[in-house]
Parts: sequence; C-alpha cells; structure tokens
Amino acid sequence: MSAATRRAVRQPLGLSADACAEVAERWLARLRSSARSLVEAPTDPSRGSVRLEVREGLEVHLRTWPPYCVDPFHDHGGAAGAIGVLRGTITEHVAGDTPEAWCIVRRPAGTVWTFTPELRHELQNLGRSLAVTVHADAPRRLRGRRFALVAGGVLRPIRAT
Ligand SMILES: [Fe+2]
Repeated sequence: MSAATRRAVRQPLGLSADACAEVAERWLARLRSSARSLVEAPTDPSRGSVRLEVREGLEVHLRTWPPYCVDPFHDHGGAAGAIGVLRGTITEHVAGDTPEAWCIVRRPAGTVWTFTPELRHELQNLGRSLAVTVHADAPRRLRGRRFALVAGGVLRPIRAT
C-alpha cells in the first residue's frame, strides 16, 4: 500500500455539505435556546473561536466576530461544509473563476449556507456589534490557504492557515 493510500485510509471522508448544514442548524437552535450569553462563550481570544463538536469526518466550531472583523480570502483545504449565522450579519465575498462569477452576499442571522471544497472566500462583520457564527467543516478542519487579492482580481496564495 502506498503512503498516499495509507493517508487516504486514515483520513475518513467527511459528511456532505448538506449534512453539515443540518449539523449547523442544530447547533444554531441549541445555542439560541441556551441561557448562556453568547458574548460570554469561552472563546479563545487568539482565534475568536471555540470548538463545539468533533467526530469522525466533522468538526464544528463557534466563532465570534467583533465589529469590522475580517477573515481574509482563504480556502478550506478541500473540506466542504456549512456556515450558520447566529447573531449579526456576515458579508461574504466569494471568489469566482471569472470576474463575472465573483459575488458579495449578505448573510443575516438565521442563515445557513453550504460550501464546496473549491470555495475561496472572505468573511466580514461590517456591523457595529458582535456577530456569531457556527462552522461545520467536513472532514475535520484541514489546513487551507490564505490568499492576497492582486491586480486583475487574481487571488495569489500567500500562506497556509
Ligand atoms: Fe471560510
């Protein structure tokens, strides 16, 4: 068995993006009904996130977004998944393969959307109050890449996430 095959065997396939969306929706419902203040959630200040769930093929984390916080253009290392907005509004800039395919989408609280392994995007909280999101990545969070937006609307990889 080659090294690549052994790695493939050890790395289970993740859930589908639709299954991730169901997981994200369950977490949104659970957190909405929680008496615990989301602002006081035990976030890691260095990452602004806390892991909610890890199981084979899936990792879910909660992320807090202070006003004007930006997660620059990145991919998810080949993972698919879903993102749900618990509080606030997230603005998503989706990079396309052609200039016409680029788009900006506002994601208000209650929104859950899926993403494919090919997604490259930037997320922002353009609001004046904290935003909170739930991210379900499948398989478990893979190392992705950060990109710089250069002339001509081209994304150039600059480092691993
Ligand atoms: Fe992302």
